[in-house]
Amino acid sequence: MRILVTGGAGYIGSHTCVELIHAGHQPIIIDNLSNSNIEAVRRVKALTKQSVPFYEADIRDHSMLERIFQTESIDAVIHFAGWKAVGESVQKPLEYYHNNITGTLVLCDVMRTYGVKNLIFSSSATVYGEPAFVPITEECPKGKISNPYGQTKAMLEQILTDLYVADPEWNIVLLRYFNPIGANESGQLGEDPRGIPNNLVPYIAKVAIGALPALGVFGNDYPTKDGTGVRDYIHVVDLAKGHVQALKKLEPNSGVNIYNLGTGNGYSVLEVLHAYEKACGKTLPYEIKPRRSGDIAICYCDASRAKEELGWKAEKTLEEMCIDSWRWQSMNPNGYVGA
Ligand code: NAD
Ligand code: UFG
Repeated sequence: MRILVTGGAGYIGSHTCVELIHAGHQPIIIDNLSNSNIEAVRRVKALTKQSVPFYEADIRDHSMLERIFQTESIDAVIHFAGWKAVGESVQKPLEYYHNNITGTLVLCDVMRTYGVKNLIFSSSATVYGEPAFVPITEECPKGKISNPYGQTKAMLEQILTDLYVADPEWNIVLLRYFNPIGANESGQLGEDPRGIPNNLVPYIAKVAIGALPALGVFGNDYPTKDGTGVRDYIHVVDLAKGHVQALKKLEPNSGVNIYNLGTGNGYSVLEVLHAYEKACGKTLPYEIKPRRSGDIAICYCDASRAKEELGWKAEKTLEEMCIDSWRWQSMNPNGYVGA
């Protein structure tokens, strides 16, 4: 299939392009590089030895999107493009709503005009808020969301569902990611956040490479095994393969399907830190800090629906996630910058 990948220069998008190509599909990338580097696209091409059309453009640019749909024949869209920094979204709600919501509205409008009604959307475990139960199944009710970023995911799930109700020709898969970490095992692709990382593993990676002095552990008084927050970390390559499998669900009359993509295992902050220490062969300093506002104690999923209906299961262990993250970080101490 020929797949338009919005946000394909980003962390999950670039890994997904590689897996799409391995599975025999042709990705076509659109990305405005607002949170990524063109070097990631070059590396996708180098790793796969395949040409990948790339459009440096904003998905809110209606006429540019039209030109892309006129130029390329497109069977389906995997829609990653959006901003994702929780704290920044609290500071810049208008920018986040405009980018994530308007961007998706424009994309869907152009898709409709060109009769492309197959869409996979990047949603998030964030829609469950403080989960009503764990492991979280797709039936778990959506929870109270404490930030505009998370709101955009919940709203977009609703908007896309409404789109299907109005026009059942749409085939839509909503993928709720848990916590993607790790990197392509070549060390050529990885997560390259700008500035000081907000998320746990990129932060640990910067401590391991010596760019930051110590990890701040946000709270050690949660009702968990060691008091630190528990999450369902999933290797980004497993996550990418989940998208390839989800393409099979985009058959006529498939409706709106929702899948959790996680491993089903919960690891604490300190467990992840210790796994990373093993991967990089160093002791990593940390200090206990107050809880981070908006954080929940425990979040991990039941991924059995994805296994039953998509034939997909996360394979890689926490150890492999940390080894691959460290390979990426040590081979690219400054990320893609300067490459
Ligand atoms: P990322 O920032 O690395 O990738 C997103 C890409 O979209 C970037 O390359 C950015 O330049 C591009 N982009 C943003 N706005 C755009 C616009 N208006 N037009 C064109 N391109 C635009 O993030 P990621 O981690 O790869 O996440 C991909 C998607 O998955 C996002 O929608 C994110 O919200 C969602 N998600 C991520 C996580 C996570 O922990 N990484 C978890 C759940 C959901
Ligand atoms: N943590 C620290 N120190 C840090 C960073 C994080 O102790 O410097 C802790 C957090 O308190 C939490 C755990 O590590 O207990 C994971 O935190 P992350 O920021 O890595 O991930 P979150 O689960 O908070 O959120 C991420 C994304 C959300 C997304 C969610 C589910 O940031 O956008 O995963 O996919 F919705």
